[in-house]
Amino acid sequence: MADTATPNVIRRADYAPPAFLIDTVALEFDLIPERTVVRNTMRVRRNPDASHAANFELMGEQLEFVGATIDGAPFAHAHAHEHGLTLDNVPDNFELTLTSICNPAENTTLSGLYVSGGNFFTQCEAEGFRRITYFLDRPDVMATFTVTLRASKADYPVLLSNGNLLEEGDLPDGRHFARWEDPFRKPSYLFALVAGKLVALEERVKSGSGKEKLLQVWVEPHDLDKTRHAMDSLINSIRWDESRFGLELDLDRFMIVAVSDFNMGAMENKGLNIFNTKYVLANPETATDTDFANIEAVVGHEYFHNWTGNRVTCRDWFQLSLKEGLTVFRDQEFSADMAGGATDEAARATKRIEDVRVLRQMQFAEDAGPMAHPVRPESYVEINNFYTMTVYEKGSEVVRMYQTLFGRDGFRKGMDLYFKRHDGQAVTCDDFRHALADANGRDLAQFERWYSQAGTPRVSVRTKYDAAQQRYSVTLTQGYGDAAPAARETQKGPLLIPFAIGLIGKDGHDLPLQLEGEARVSDSTTRVLEFTQTEQTFTFVNVAQEPLPSLLRNFSAPVIVEYDYSADQLAFLLAHDSDPFNRWEAGQRLATRELLTLAGRATTGVPLQLDDSVVAAFARVLTDETLSPSFRELALMLPSEAYLAEQMAESNPAAVHAARQFVRKRLANALRKDWLAVYKKHRTPGAYEATPEASGHRALKNLALSYLAELDDPAEAVRLASAQYDAANNMTDRSAALSALLNASAANGGSVEAQQALDDFYRRFEKEPLVIDKWFALQATQRGSAQRPVIEIVRRLMAHPAFNLKNPNRARSLIFSFCAANPAQFHAEDGSGYAFWAEQVIALDAINPQVAARLARSLELWRRFTPTLRDGMRAALEKVTSQVKSRDVREIVEKALA
Ligand code: TRP
Ligand code: ZN
Repeated sequence: MADTATPNVIRRADYAPPAFLIDTVALEFDLIPERTVVRNTMRVRRNPDASHAANFELMGEQLEFVGATIDGAPFAHAHAHEHGLTLDNVPDNFELTLTSICNPAENTTLSGLYVSGGNFFTQCEAEGFRRITYFLDRPDVMATFTVTLRASKADYPVLLSNGNLLEEGDLPDGRHFARWEDPFRKPSYLFALVAGKLVALEERVKSGSGKEKLLQVWVEPHDLDKTRHAMDSLINSIRWDESRFGLELDLDRFMIVAVSDFNMGAMENKGLNIFNTKYVLANPETATDTDFANIEAVVGHEYFHNWTGNRVTCRDWFQLSLKEGLTVFRDQEFSADMAGGATDEAARATKRIEDVRVLRQMQFAEDAGPMAHPVRPESYVEINNFYTMTVYEKGSEVVRMYQTLFGRDGFRKGMDLYFKRHDGQAVTCDDFRHALADANGRDLAQFERWYSQAGTPRVSVRTKYDAAQQRYSVTLTQGYGDAAPAARETQKGPLLIPFAIGLIGKDGHDLPLQLEGEARVSDSTTRVLEFTQTEQTFTFVNVAQEPLPSLLRNFSAPVIVEYDYSADQLAFLLAHDSDPFNRWEAGQRLATRELLTLAGRATTGVPLQLDDSVVAAFARVLTDETLSPSFRELALMLPSEAYLAEQMAESNPAAVHAARQFVRKRLANALRKDWLAVYKKHRTPGAYEATPEASGHRALKNLALSYLAELDDPAEAVRLASAQYDAANNMTDRSAALSALLNASAANGGSVEAQQALDDFYRRFEKEPLVIDKWFALQATQRGSAQRPVIEIVRRLMAHPAFNLKNPNRARSLIFSFCAANPAQFHAEDGSGYAFWAEQVIALDAINPQVAARLARSLELWRRFTPTLRDGMRAALEKVTSQVKSRDVREIVEKALA
């Protein structure tokens, strides 16, 4: 262990209500980049529900304390220290004014008040408000805020904060002011201010009850042409929350502001959402179809937080999934409804498949390592490290299970009761569960385990058909397998798993379902079994023929299903399952199994082979014009290298890469004509359209191009890709063409065409930072070769004038892309990737601990790799541990090595 003391562990069990409450806050800012003065006047009283404390302890960090007054008189017994301010022997009820100074210009952490592109922004979640002023910076202290901003009018013509604008005007010396009031009580983490040279796209809409609302999307002037899609997404979000949940916008004005220096995606500050530019700015020339979809999802996500997060907030940070899991679920449903309405199951499935891919690749991996934690964690060192895949994505699956159990209407009843009971409060995950349970007349005590147990559950399935009795029994067994130690210690008992199942007959149609003891056949050919015991058998009766089971339809629970399907059965499901998710799933199972076998063989040097029947199964999908293009694209995309490596007894990225490349090449060569035909057929000539249909065509066409780039003779692919690159009228096609060019030539150490396209791309988009991020990322994730390892390209790009470690998007585009999205190159046997990783974690640690800690996580599964790689990773982790300064990175590397 290094010389600093082990950081403090914060435990859920230690929760105690605050000794004081703050009812109102009046903030005054004199905004100056190097020296901003903040005056904070609070109405404070003792909390009747807490034990007595003589002193008032406020949190504060990186603040210069100037002075305190109580009820207007100077207060001498205030002591500033490293963690905040202590006021001795305060009265029971008083007005406290504190003055302090901070330095936004030097704040590279992007937490608290900081400067980006010459403008001021704030980021307060989770604990950034204490870097702005002294406060009870915890979510169960809720106050109404009034904010006065003063700044140079020429430099900061726009002054924004939460809520409604009360007044604005000029001051002497070229300064001006604006005063804002937020009528709703809120915790400090939802405070925000923005000041600078910005312009807005504006729209006025009427909400459900007929009130007029002003909507604004604020950006730098040159980005105004990229705001339409965010505005449309906002309007759609407002409509959707009204119609699906009966939730109306509660302010007269709702603002979104884009900033290019931002630690995460976006932030739901009340009435003043602040966004990473990546999730706001889009037009067809600069943004891909994926970017457009992500913007819709994130705009929805932040907007939906207004009710799930802001009106009802978290009692403490252990309850983070109360707002995040629920809000991710809501944004996923919003996107699915936007794509397919309530009834187009195939279109909805596209979104579901994408979400499950992320869950399985990222959250399952998290659950298998040293950072494994329950959806409601028991302890943390640094809360910023717990904005995780588990809290967000598994948390959303937990919320989805309520809806699977109770149906849309039952879920809605539970939501209505939740708001009826808790509007204006700071509550817990238990409160949410109780609302769902009570509204539906159910006892959900067992369901609580989804919040308290870490690790990915495994459900093994055995089936038995009794032809004489026409009975089909399905026996389910649940457990956690060989779970990570961090997960194992949380596991107490079986879960309530909603297990959706269908039975498929020989002709490919669903069979009617009737469970033993039931009087009649179900209306639906999918049944949600409530699986609650360690082992449980469900028996279907009147089953006229031996069925093939379709298990965990639509991924009804975040579990791993183990069932011994034959390759033929999987091919049959891929061709016939009425559940579109499970059709896709069958293809993935088939591919995963083949790929893992091949990866095992690749380590022994045996020549690789792929059975013709597997090629035929994929050929059927490729040529089946009755399937939607977006479904075909998803079904033909092989599982990622990271996911496959995770499934190996010992992760071997080189073997996985070899196997996956072998299969891609085999599919490319064997189906060359079909890929070409699909490529031609799914072109989208004419003006760019952002519809789901058009983007499905582009996705399938560009997947075809990427397979064609794998041909033994890539000349034709290079020709097609060059032509596509030159003719493209949108970023989806242009970046796909560039990627195909880079990869087609990888084995030969690069091509003239690839280099020309790269240079052209840079020149064309030099003034568009988000596109230059793509330029870096495409190079960092390219295939590379022995003669031309990608680490060398990455190191060269680190010195490029456009590279900037302080900008998180840029750091992610180059460094994270290489370390987390190019496993075969990153995990080079010589350890060059790990040395690079250690250097960058240490460099970032001094600039921005939150971003550094994210990068630090890319080695956490080190124990699961082959011995040589394991040793290299351990050495790199030890190096970082010996030099790290921040609590954020320290928690990650110490947990990894423990
Ligand atoms: N609450 C935000 C969301 O889910 C995310 C968030 C948490 C965040 N902490 C942050 C964003 C820090 C930026 C910086 O939408
Ligand atoms: Zn969120």
